[in-house]
Amino acid sequence: MSKLSEVIISNHKLLAWVEEITKICKPDDVYWCDGSKNEYDNLCKLMVDKGTLIRLNDAKRPNSYLCRSDPSDVARVEDRTFICSKNKADAGPTNNWYDPCKMKATLTKLFDGCMMGRTMYVVPFSMGPLGSHISHIGIEITDSPYVAVSMKIMTRMGSAVLDVLGETGDFVKCVHSVGKPLSFGEKDVIWPCNSQNIYIAHFPEDGAIWSFGSGYGGNALLGKKCFALRIASVMARNNGWLAEHMLIVGIEDPNGRKTYVAAAFPSACGKTNFAMMQPPAGFDGWKIWTVGDDIAWIKPSADGKLYAVNPEAGFFGVAPGTGIKTNFNAIASCRANTIFTNVGLTDDGDVWWEGLTDEKPEHLIDWKGRDWTPNSTEKAAHPNSRFTAPASQCPCIDPDWENPNGVPISAFLFGGRVSKNMPLVFQSFNWAHGVYLGATMGSEATAAAVGQAAMRRDPMAMLPFCGYNMADYFSHWLNIGRQLANPPPIFRVNWFNKDENGKFIWPGFGENIRVLKWIIDRVHGQGFAVESPFGFMPRYEDIEWKSLNFSKMKFYELMMIERLAGNVEARAHEEHFEKFFDRLPQEFIHERELLRSRLLRSPEVWNLFKN
Ligand code: GTP
Ligand code: SPV
Ligand code: MN
Repeated sequence: MSKLSEVIISNHKLLAWVEEITKICKPDDVYWCDGSKNEYDNLCKLMVDKGTLIRLNDAKRPNSYLCRSDPSDVARVEDRTFICSKNKADAGPTNNWYDPCKMKATLTKLFDGCMMGRTMYVVPFSMGPLGSHISHIGIEITDSPYVAVSMKIMTRMGSAVLDVLGETGDFVKCVHSVGKPLSFGEKDVIWPCNSQNIYIAHFPEDGAIWSFGSGYGGNALLGKKCFALRIASVMARNNGWLAEHMLIVGIEDPNGRKTYVAAAFPSACGKTNFAMMQPPAGFDGWKIWTVGDDIAWIKPSADGKLYAVNPEAGFFGVAPGTGIKTNFNAIASCRANTIFTNVGLTDDGDVWWEGLTDEKPEHLIDWKGRDWTPNSTEKAAHPNSRFTAPASQCPCIDPDWENPNGVPISAFLFGGRVSKNMPLVFQSFNWAHGVYLGATMGSEATAAAVGQAAMRRDPMAMLPFCGYNMADYFSHWLNIGRQLANPPPIFRVNWFNKDENGKFIWPGFGENIRVLKWIIDRVHGQGFAVESPFGFMPRYEDIEWKSLNFSKMKFYELMMIERLAGNVEARAHEEHFEKFFDRLPQEFIHERELLRSRLLRSPEVWNLFKN
């Protein structure tokens, strides 16, 4: 960490911009982050002294910390997230649009003096491996040391980025404040924020992001959702690539053949688990390799294939539900050098959350700092509590995860959280139908964002993250496929069907590899499939069931299509698309009518038994 007088900045645009923001925000101090271990340790120590971080027991959890946020600042705030494009139609009907001039006026007032009494950190970061032709640079200015250290884990951060930026390089301008100036020398609080006044504003035409009021996750770590998805999706549309809310995983079969797939599941719907799943018994010799768990930047290459990089360097993973049995590799990834936010603190100075172990500790301090026992009515960890861990610590991190050219993608998966009437897996008939499957994806609410409807359409898991008109985004997807001689096949999956008692029917987690194996068989032209009204489906005998007791009856229950429910679904697609008016790709209207026609000719209950 250094003062400006101690660092050499040759980029005049950067210097001028930092000066401008300093004048507006009026911090007491300005520090340029160099990204060193020493700096990280010092900042963490500073936060321990302030009470923001608690150092965990070094014997149990080396070099790790617990952080408790303000209870009002625990997740993304979608209704305070704005796309400030010049034209309202360019933000589209699924985004909150705000006139860029008016927003700038509002923000200038809000940010005026907002860092008084605080230190302003200048955080240079690269999304993607340093210097890769796929990577892009951002600079985040923030008054939160928690954000600065989180950016060190989540991105390539520090002075090396300034070297790549050079004298003339361009960068995405990210300004963040917790929105709580200490104007009169008052004492700071443990988690400063301004929850009544949150703005997460994006200016896609300027490549700028302004975030005010929240210090948590995607609201504050601006390289993640704001840059790598909302701003990057616009850059991608303009330049013929894709910025997606997708995990990237490599599957190696016992013969050593490796196949990479990318999968879009909405927030808190299993990307981290799927990206690093442990093959269960019956899958000896199979290996899973993680490239990324949340974001994929995907570019067409001269060889006619799509190549993907993970722009991040860490995992910001959902803690609850993550345990040795459900996600061994995530647990191993956060064994050290990790920041935990809003989980429970055990009496021996370690962390705990619901699902970490079957047995509950006898006593804990919960995420709000209160005593907790198994008899407590509230949960020990917040449902959106998270761990921030370096990706390099994942035991199954792919040897090519930092390959500047990315890894070749052989299939796309789309999957929401749907409790009934959505089969376990099916394959689209072709690219356009696959894009339609992604665009019509439904999913039930999770804790990753506040105030969501119970069930909503979340196209490609990008509803909260697409920085432009979603109808144009659909067209962009269709165009990408048109350019490719042999576009990757597209699949829909759903791990979340429930029985009449509300229990998940499919065992999920590592067992998902059974579905993945069929998908990979299909990629390589080997897997068998029958045609259903929704798409191509595996029969019972097309899935590897070794070492799992899952009956044919239960499988077919997961795969059946009720004509009535199918029609209700098709009708819902129509409603979902109405708001896009004539920007909606014409293909989608035909896809919907084809779906209707297939349903019309299907029996009341379409069942694999009858095939
Ligand atoms: P974001 O980081 O919010 O974008 O989400 P993510 O998709 O990475 O979420 P994550 O993988 O952390 O999923 C969190 C929740 O999904 C946890 O509660 C898990 O227990 C649950 N989960 C993951 N995989 C499965 C599965 O195969 N079946 C079931 N039933 N639940 C799963
Ligand atoms: C998500 O909500 O999809 C996340 C967590 O990955 S956050 O970074 O907070 O957006
Ligand atoms: Mn996410």
